[in-house]
Amino acid sequence: MIHSSLRRYWIGHIRLALTLFGLPSAASCALNNHFRDYQFSSTLRYHYYSTGEPVMTSSGVLHVKSRCPQYPGSQVKRCPVPDDKVEWSQNWPEYSPVSHTDPAVTKKPKWADPEIGKFSVKFNALDGEVDRTSFEGNYRVENGKPLNPRGRTGVTGRGLLGRWGPNHAADPIVTRWKMDKKGAKMPHAVSKRPILQFVSIKRKDCGEWAIPGGMVDPGEQISLTLQREFSEEALNSLAMSASDKTKLHARITNLFKSPGIEVYKGYVDDPRNTDNAWMETVAVNFHDESGDSVSELPLQAGDDAGQVQWVDVDSSFPLYASHSSFLERVAKERSAHW
Ligand code: BGC
Repeated sequence: MIHSSLRRYWIGHIRLALTLFGLPSAASCALNNHFRDYQFSSTLRYHYYSTGEPVMTSSGVLHVKSRCPQYPGSQVKRCPVPDDKVEWSQNWPEYSPVSHTDPAVTKKPKWADPEIGKFSVKFNALDGEVDRTSFEGNYRVENGKPLNPRGRTGVTGRGLLGRWGPNHAADPIVTRWKMDKKGAKMPHAVSKRPILQFVSIKRKDCGEWAIPGGMVDPGEQISLTLQREFSEEALNSLAMSASDKTKLHARITNLFKSPGIEVYKGYVDDPRNTDNAWMETVAVNFHDESGDSVSELPLQAGDDAGQVQWVDVDSSFPLYASHSSFLERVAKERSAHW
C-alpha cells in the first residue's frame, strides 16, 4: 500500500509532465480519477487506494468518474456534486443539474430510446427485447425518469447513452501468461509473481486503453456479446468477408466456450453516466494457460478501437472507467502479479 502523501506527490509530478507535454486537463482529470478508482479484494468487497479516505455509501462505492467536471464529447460542465450530496437520500433542494442529451442520441438512431413521454416504457423489467433491469436491484423512477442507483451526477438526460436507465455492456478479458524465449512464465521483478497479459484496445472516443467490450444488443445473450465485441474490436471482424468471419469464429469459439471467470457484474463508474442513464457490465475472463491458441490471433483494431495490443496486467497501467478493478480481480484469481 503506497502512502497517500506519496501518491499525491506522484500525481502532482505526472500532472506537471502532462502539462509540459501540452496534454489537456481532461487527461489530468482522468489520471486523478484513476487513483481514486476502486478495486476488489478476493472477497469481492471494495477498497479504495485513493488519495482520500474510502468512501462507501449505502448504495455502494461513491462514483467519481460519473462526476468528472466536463461531460465527455461536449462542452457541458456538470453541476459539481460534493461527496456528501451524491446519495439521493441527502436532501438538497438547491441541486440544479444541467440537462444534456447528445445530438447523436436525439437524432433517434436504432440503439437509442425516444424521449420520455414519446414511447411506452417498462422500467425494472425486460421491456420487449430491451433489458431494463439493473444488476443493482430495483431503481427508482421519478417523474417518469429512472434515477441513477449510485446517486447524483450533475447532469440529467442521457448524455451519450442511448437507453434511459441501465445501458448494458459486456467485457471480455482475454489473458495469457507472459513467457520468456524458453517458454517459461516470467515473474515480476518486484512481486516475483508471474505476469499476465490481456488484449487491450485504445478507445477512439477518449484515447484511453480499455478492455475490448461493448454494448449488449437487444435480445442478445451476454456470451455472444463477449465473443462478438472481441471479434469486432480486437480482430476487426467487421471488415472481413463472410468466409473469413466463419473461419475466425471457428478459431475463437473454443476459447469463448471455455469456462470463463465472471469477475464483475454491476454498475460501472463511467464518465458518460447521468442522473437518468448509466452503464452496467458483466466482465468475464477467458484465459489460455498455454498461450498457444491466443498468441497466434491476428490482432487488428476495428470498430470503436483505434489500436490493439497485448498489455501486461499491472496496477500502474491506467484504464478506462472501472476496468482496472476488473483486472485486479483477474490477477488475484490467477495468483498473478498486480
Ligand atoms: C465499453 C465497455 C465498458 C462499458 C462501461 C462500454 O461502452 O465498451 O468496455 O465496460 O462501456 O464503461
